[in-house]
Amino acid sequence: MCGIVGYVGPRDAVPVLLEGLHRLEYRGYDSAGIAVEDAGGGGVRVAKTAGRVADLRRAVPDDMAGATGIAHTRWATHGEPSDRNAHPHVDAAGRIAIVHNGVFENSDRLRAQLVADGVALASDTDSEVLAHLVARSTGETLEDAVREALAQVEGTYGVIVMDAERPGELVAARRGSPVVLGVGEQEMLVASDVAALVRYTQQVIYLDDDEIATVTADGYRTSTMGARATSTTRSPTSIDAASAEYELGDHPDFMYKEMREQPDAVDRCLRGRLDHRFSSARLDGVGLTPQDYQRIRRVKLLGCGSAYYAGQLGAQLIEELARIPADAEPASEFRYRNPVVDPDTLYVVLSQSGETLDTLAAVQELKRKGGHVIGVVNAVGSTIARECGHGLFLHAGPEVSVAATKSFTTMGVALAMLALDLGRVRDLSITEGRRLVGGLSQLPDQIARILAAEDEIAEIARKYADARHMFFVGRVRAWPAAREGAQKLKEISYVHAEAYQASELKHGPLALINPEMPTVVLVPDDELLTKNTGTIEEIKARGGPVIAVTDAELPAGLATDVIRVPKAHEALSPITLSVPLQLFAYHLAHALGRDVDRPRNLAKSVTVE
Ligand code: F6R
Repeated sequence: MCGIVGYVGPRDAVPVLLEGLHRLEYRGYDSAGIAVEDAGGGGVRVAKTAGRVADLRRAVPDDMAGATGIAHTRWATHGEPSDRNAHPHVDAAGRIAIVHNGVFENSDRLRAQLVADGVALASDTDSEVLAHLVARSTGETLEDAVREALAQVEGTYGVIVMDAERPGELVAARRGSPVVLGVGEQEMLVASDVAALVRYTQQVIYLDDDEIATVTADGYRTSTMGARATSTTRSPTSIDAASAEYELGDHPDFMYKEMREQPDAVDRCLRGRLDHRFSSARLDGVGLTPQDYQRIRRVKLLGCGSAYYAGQLGAQLIEELARIPADAEPASEFRYRNPVVDPDTLYVVLSQSGETLDTLAAVQELKRKGGHVIGVVNAVGSTIARECGHGLFLHAGPEVSVAATKSFTTMGVALAMLALDLGRVRDLSITEGRRLVGGLSQLPDQIARILAAEDEIAEIARKYADARHMFFVGRVRAWPAAREGAQKLKEISYVHAEAYQASELKHGPLALINPEMPTVVLVPDDELLTKNTGTIEEIKARGGPVIAVTDAELPAGLATDVIRVPKAHEALSPITLSVPLQLFAYHLAHALGRDVDRPRNLAKSVTVE
């Protein structure tokens, strides 16, 4: 949440920063701003505005230029989205400029102190205090001043600070919110996300928590934040994503692009991991021996939002295939209920971005209590991936759209491989293992076929665009996919969508069924097929329209509309069934004129609580 970017080097910083913000806009898009050290010697110049990066481009004066600068795209926490609350914030003299991602939890007290000292605050934000605290610091260097200022704040931050009196220098620091340095040829960049850097360099350094960096065009130096600063030796690593992967190309939006990329993403996720000889999976990154596997008594999966639903899907797969009790829980709740952490439990943490604060906090709580935790993460080099140390990368490629699509399907695939691997060490027979390996190998092609049926799904979606409420129901295996389907619809179309276990409908929600309440029923071709057709009959009997999403042959006329998908291995059907639900949500949202990549109130990568 919130994107920050900084540049120092020989180029004009303004276009570099605007390009960086454009790439980071998915992290927040309610206001944006830029500050540069004026090339004409006029100190710090700031341009900022409520709205999008495109609005900022229009607001930047033509003569604004400088070799050092910082910029920000905001997802509001403290203070409404407005020009005055947009970052960068400056001190009263206009000398220090800061951008901040995170939350200063003691900002009320700090703001009151500053006001009592006669400082006129220019915004309602928690972040502004940092500019004033740095300006009032007696530290000799900018880094000293930032250290001193940050020692007074509580909460989380990724910050970049610049000082008009120290041209050609930026100071960046992190606690809880990501900061990455980009090392170029006689130029340096700083950002909350590699997306802002890839166009300029592939060499990056991910700052650790409580680390601070001073950055000039010639290089960088890093050290720890505490009272006794110790320098840290950090060598750059190469990033695995090419700049082109962050480009929209010919696609209308990133969600569309990412849905379309799913066959390739799943193929990459599977590549080199299916063990045909032993009908198992080869998951070296997990770092566990067969003996370790044997000792596992439970599996607990943790993630937020769609990653939590993928965790539910994985729990079902693990319990079914490996016969190990497994369940999923929202990572956001985990640490607050003082969880019992059991040494015989394998904890699996799921995150596309690898930066979700709630998920990271769950990992830290688990590690503190001695739990064995592995990560299933998309972003290589991300905080959660580094904190876990072991696990599986999704290899789905960058996911930019706020709505998770290919990360959800590849999480399902990664967890199916984990379930297979765990199962084959236990009671899953070689014959069943072979069937599952076959089923996994077919997924890229099956998903491609679902995507090829887009027009039919789009037509059905448009037919229901007037609905104000919708149910999504599924049983057992299909229940997590129903939850994810409802999540997709509500977040990008703003239509109220509620997911229910199909078996629970008659215990209450059936009262809501009427001709204005369509229900999407997931009907996998499995042992519960007749139960699901029974559910459809019950809904129809109450006049409710039914959209059946199925890989089974349903009797003609059973459902109002049918979305057919290729027949998958029954354990993998929640993965294939979830793909048409993405297309359904996407086309319904477009029919309502929504901006699917920038849904209101949301942002990708939730790095605040
Ligand atoms: C929904 C969505 C969110 C994320 C959640 C976790 O489409 O994208 O619910 O799934 O915020 O994000 P990650 O996976 O980055 O930890």
